[in-house]
Amino acid sequence: MTAAPVIAIDGPSASGKGTIARRVADELSFHYLESGALYRLIALVSLRDRMRAEKALAEVAERMAVDFVGEQIFLSNQDVTLDVRSEEVSRRASEVAKIPEVRKRLLKRQRAFRRPPGLVADGRDMGTVVFPDATLKLFLTASPEVRAERRYKQLIDKGIPANLRSLSRDLAERDARDRNRAVAPLVPAPDSQVLDSSALSIDAVAELIVRWYRERTGGLR
Ligand code: DC
Repeated sequence: MTAAPVIAIDGPSASGKGTIARRVADELSFHYLESGALYRLIALVSLRDRMRAEKALAEVAERMAVDFVGEQIFLSNQDVTLDVRSEEVSRRASEVAKIPEVRKRLLKRQRAFRRPPGLVADGRDMGTVVFPDATLKLFLTASPEVRAERRYKQLIDKGIPANLRSLSRDLAERDARDRNRAVAPLVPAPDSQVLDSSALSIDAVAELIVRWYRERTGGLR
C-alpha cells in the first residue's frame, strides 16, 4: 500500500502558513496537522508546571494527551485553544523546539497524522525532516513587516492584547532561533517551491498550491 500523499508547508512565524494550509486541506478534503501547536502545547506545560529539564519535556512530548477538534486544541480534555497562542507560550515554544529529544519524540506523533486521503502539514521541518517524501513542498515567506502586522491582527481579532513593536522584536528573535538551531533548522528543503506571500492574498496562495498539487498528481484529485 502506498502512503497517503502529503503537502508540506514550511516557513517562519506569521507567514500565513497556518491559514493557508487549512484552506488547502479543506479544498482537497485532506487531514491537517499544525505541528507548531505540538511545540506550543509542550511550552504551555513547561510554563504551567515550571518545568525546564530537557528530559522531563521530552517525556511530555511523548505522553501529553492532545486532541485537535476543528480549530480547537485540547490538552488532557481541557480547551487550551487561546492559551497556546499567547506571546509567552510562543517564546517558550521556540526554546522547547531546540531540544533534540523533544523533536525526536514528536516525530512518530506527527507521522501518525498521515492518513488517506492525504495530509497538509505545516511547520518548520515538514518537508526536510518529518515528511521528506512529501508530494509537494512549499516554503512560504513574507516580509518581516507584513508578518508582524498579520500576527498583530490575528491576536487582536482573538481578543488577545498585543503591541506591534514588541511583536516585531519577538518575531525577529524567534526567527533567528528557528533558523540557527542545530537540529532541524528553518531552511527550505532543496526540492521545495519558495513562495513570498507579502503581496498575495491568502486565497490566492491557497489556490496556487491546490493548482500545483493537482498539476503534479495529474489532476487526479
Ligand atoms: O508555527 P508556530 O509559530 O506555531 O510554531 C511555534 C514554535 O515551534 C516556533 O518557534 C517554531 C517551532 N516549530 C518547530 O520548531 N518545528 C515545527 N515543525 C513547528 C514549529
